[in-house]
Amino acid sequence: MSYNLLKGKKGIIFGALDEKSIAWRTALKCHAEGAQLVLSNAPVALRMGEINKLAEAVQAPVIGADVTNMDDLKKLFEESMKHFGGGIDFVLHSIGMSLNMRKGKSYTEIDYEWNKKTLDISAMSLHRVLRTAWDLDALNEGASVVALTYIAAQRVFPDYNEMADAKALLESVTRSFGYYYGMKKKVRVNTVSQSPTRTTAGSGVKGFDGFITYAEKMSPLGNATGDQCADYCVTLFSDLTRMVTMQNLFHDGGFSFSGVTQGVIDQMEK
Ligand SMILES: NC(=O)c1ccc[n+]([C@@H]2O[C@H](COP(=O)([O-])OP(=O)(O)OC[C@H]3O[C@@H](n4cnc5c(N)ncnc54)[C@H](O)[C@@H]3O)[C@@H](O)[C@H]2O)c1
Repeated sequence: MSYNLLKGKKGIIFGALDEKSIAWRTALKCHAEGAQLVLSNAPVALRMGEINKLAEAVQAPVIGADVTNMDDLKKLFEESMKHFGGGIDFVLHSIGMSLNMRKGKSYTEIDYEWNKKTLDISAMSLHRVLRTAWDLDALNEGASVVALTYIAAQRVFPDYNEMADAKALLESVTRSFGYYYGMKKKVRVNTVSQSPTRTTAGSGVKGFDGFITYAEKMSPLGNATGDQCADYCVTLFSDLTRMVTMQNLFHDGGFSFSGVTQGVIDQMEK
């Protein structure tokens, strides 16, 4: 069901790799709610070609940008404004990559050069995106920016590795830039802390099957799906949440505030 919550709004969605991607699910929901979109991903991801299916479904152009490259980001925002014929109302940052995880290094033996790249792609890229928009004055008054994060920023999940530090930095950039952009143009900047979800990035976490089953048992409402995360992002892009900013918003079926659940107790007593 759609409510036209984003009628007339224009947004950039970063990070739709394939149909499991949270960004993909969100693009479909934003389109159904009446938004006009531009899709972006790293040039290497675009070569897969999957995103063209989404582009067709949501009638959006695809503009490549490596989020660690300021020239790419400038070009993306300039071309998006040209396409929309004006400013941008919302941005989804749905981007994460850990070089050390990908190369099988544990947290205690990370390679620092790879670590720098991980932090740049997964966290400072939000600063780069906001900075580019700021310099070009690309965001409309009251625009909304959402980045996706995970609770490993607050609590230790050993196999989440260096991404825990990346998410902590991402959430800090959200607060800091959220302050400045709020003062300047009432722009909202928030993170959504999502349940484990079966996507390419998610499945890259060691022991993911155990991880996702545990989270399901530890959440009174169960794990939130990618589609449900997309619904939540729509509300944050809409005018119904105009006073929410600089927050880390848990979207996890209650996992973050559960000490233990009956399901976990039953499992331990077996
Ligand atoms: N899947 C989960 O369990 C889960 C849980 C909480 C938060 N998240 C977060 O959700 C976000 C989206 O991940 P997903 O699970 O949909 O997986 P995904 O693999 O579908 O998406 C990750 C995206 O990041 C993009 N990316 C990587 N490097 C890039 C670069 N240099 N420039 C531009 N884009 C780049 C990839 O191309 C890909 O589209 C990530 O921030 C992830 O950490 C995921």
